[in-house]
Amino acid sequence: KKDTYVLGIETSCDETAVAIIKNGTKIVTNIVSSQIESHKRFGGVVPEIASRHHVEQVTLVLEEALEQAEMTMEEIDCIAVTEGPGLVGALLIGVNAAKALAFAHNKPLVGVHHIAGHIYANRLVKEMKFPLLSLVVSGGHTELVLMKEHGSFEVIGETRDDAAGEAYDKVARTLSLPYPGGPHIDRLAHEGEPTLDLPRAWLEEGSYDFSFSGLKSAVINTLHNAKQKGRTIYPQDLAASFQASVIDVLVTKTVRAVNEYKVEQLLLAGGVAANKGLRAALEEAFKELDTELIIPPLSLCTDNAAMIAAAGTVLFEQGKRGDMAMNANPGLDI
Ligand code: KG4
Ligand code: ZN
Repeated sequence: KKDTYVLGIETSCDETAVAIIKNGTKIVTNIVSSQIESHKRFGGVVPEIASRHHVEQVTLVLEEALEQAEMTMEEIDCIAVTEGPGLVGALLIGVNAAKALAFAHNKPLVGVHHIAGHIYANRLVKEMKFPLLSLVVSGGHTELVLMKEHGSFEVIGETRDDAAGEAYDKVARTLSLPYPGGPHIDRLAHEGEPTLDLPRAWLEEGSYDFSFSGLKSAVINTLHNAKQKGRTIYPQDLAASFQASVIDVLVTKTVRAVNEYKVEQLLLAGGVAANKGLRAALEEAFKELDTELIIPPLSLCTDNAAMIAAAGTVLFEQGKRGDMAMNANPGLDI
């Protein structure tokens, strides 16, 4: 059987990324151009700035990917692009680049859901075994997704307010840490002790949903009250207490779902999967379970196009096709 090469394009937020994947599982090349430096001084991603950077970068990143892979467009079997969700102006750059490439080189096109991409980052590490659960924790999403076969996604729990990464970024902001705050809180947490009593939102009995906005408010209130009373709170301890609360809820609900759905694998996905505390807590919890735990390397946890090409390969092989009417869909459902 001939090898399948899929070229992926990802521009949903603040990374312009192009990758080429062989047979859905092997990275040929994976180029990410990050804009974080341009957004830092605003404390978050500015959509208009993001779109402009994508326009400037997308052709360069594409050329670099082909050059590094020593391949031409002729050798590519399909073009996969993030259709949504994300920032509409940012998504549009990738979608239009993909459509132009598909048209110019007469190649099939597939649209990929960004979260499906995060989940499929795991297939670049290990072959998937169904049924499986994925804990998706990113800047925009916190979801427990059940997969019974390739391309099928059932959301069994999701956040009702802030995403986990969003909570990290907001707490970091109150501590005057730079954007994105997740890695800074993670680092501080390891220097402190979880001495402060912060809430855990378990929600109704049996629910796999999440809620992090109450925790975020509790952190802000704790800081405010301490200031008024002239008490010192060490940011390290606050970070450790916040992180302990987030991890406690994520790991407890995940383990409960793994037992209820009797899954073969648990795949960790999304930018917050880079969190050292979360990785360690999951590894500890899964020592006791028969379910296999897969955690991708850091470079495949944050936004990249290898994951989009990996998910796109499955859609391509299932015969799914996009056409020239494909549009960016910022609110796309998985
Ligand atoms: O998946 P991602 O790159 O973009 C989205 O699709 O949202 O995730 C970015 C999020 C940010 O909120 C960032 O603060 C968080 O992932 N993040 C972390 C860590 N590294 C990145 N959160 C906690 N601990 C980390 N080490
Ligand atoms: Zn993402």
